[in-house]
Amino acid sequence: MRKNIVAGNWKMNNDLKATKKLVKQVKKSIKKDDLKNTRVIVAPTFVNLTAAVKRAKKSKVEVAAQNMHQATNGAFTGEISADMLKSIGVKTVILGHSERRAYFGETDALLAEKVNAALANKMEVIFCFGEELADRKAGNEEAVVGGQIKNALFHLKGDDFKNIVLAYEPVWAIGTGETASPEQAQDMHAFIRKTLADKYGDDVANNVSILYGGSVKPANAKEIFGKPDVDGGLIGGAALNAEDFHAIITAF
Ligand code: G3P
Repeated sequence: MRKNIVAGNWKMNNDLKATKKLVKQVKKSIKKDDLKNTRVIVAPTFVNLTAAVKRAKKSKVEVAAQNMHQATNGAFTGEISADMLKSIGVKTVILGHSERRAYFGETDALLAEKVNAALANKMEVIFCFGEELADRKAGNEEAVVGGQIKNALFHLKGDDFKNIVLAYEPVWAIGTGETASPEQAQDMHAFIRKTLADKYGDDVANNVSILYGGSVKPANAKEIFGKPDVDGGLIGGAALNAEDFHAIITAF
């Protein structure tokens, strides 16, 4: 059965002191919760991953990276490889976030290479994708999202999806407060699951967690997470506040 997941993408926020504090707060906040089928993940910046892993030990809080390079090592100044993340105890990585696509020119083809490198290193990938406002206004959202998934993931085998979490993040909802309606989220998640099923069969499609991201807040999480094909959220701003993040974690 697929897991519910609430993952906090901290983006470029929190120095070492703030990281230690927030991880401890999140850990404390979920101590008494019955999170049988819910995973809780935080994704600090690279420099704070080791400290986060140390403080998350022996708790239900998992730690993910926000990105990684596709090469094993070499002359890639400023980059981080999969095995470097594994060496500090990080086994999950967010790939394809719209900010990486927009600001750092990450293409579907490059992301396919990054996904391959992560899976080759037995890492779990939270793969992000989503349409721009212009795509949705033109009624092209399914064509865009379908293309992003097929171009970056459909070279994989069905079994590979055991280590893939999908995160649909409509770009127009990220950081804007313009959350997709629960119906919009459900429609797109159902389309994504059908796209997977058409290629890999129902068994694979029904076991992949599909997260929604884009202005998820305590006030809207319950309705969005209550939709049949929404398996949780990838949270930005609200993940930086332990109380709000806890309210979202317990919104199922
Ligand atoms: O990766 C999650 C992020 O893009 C969503 O950000 O601030 O809209 O929750 P936010």
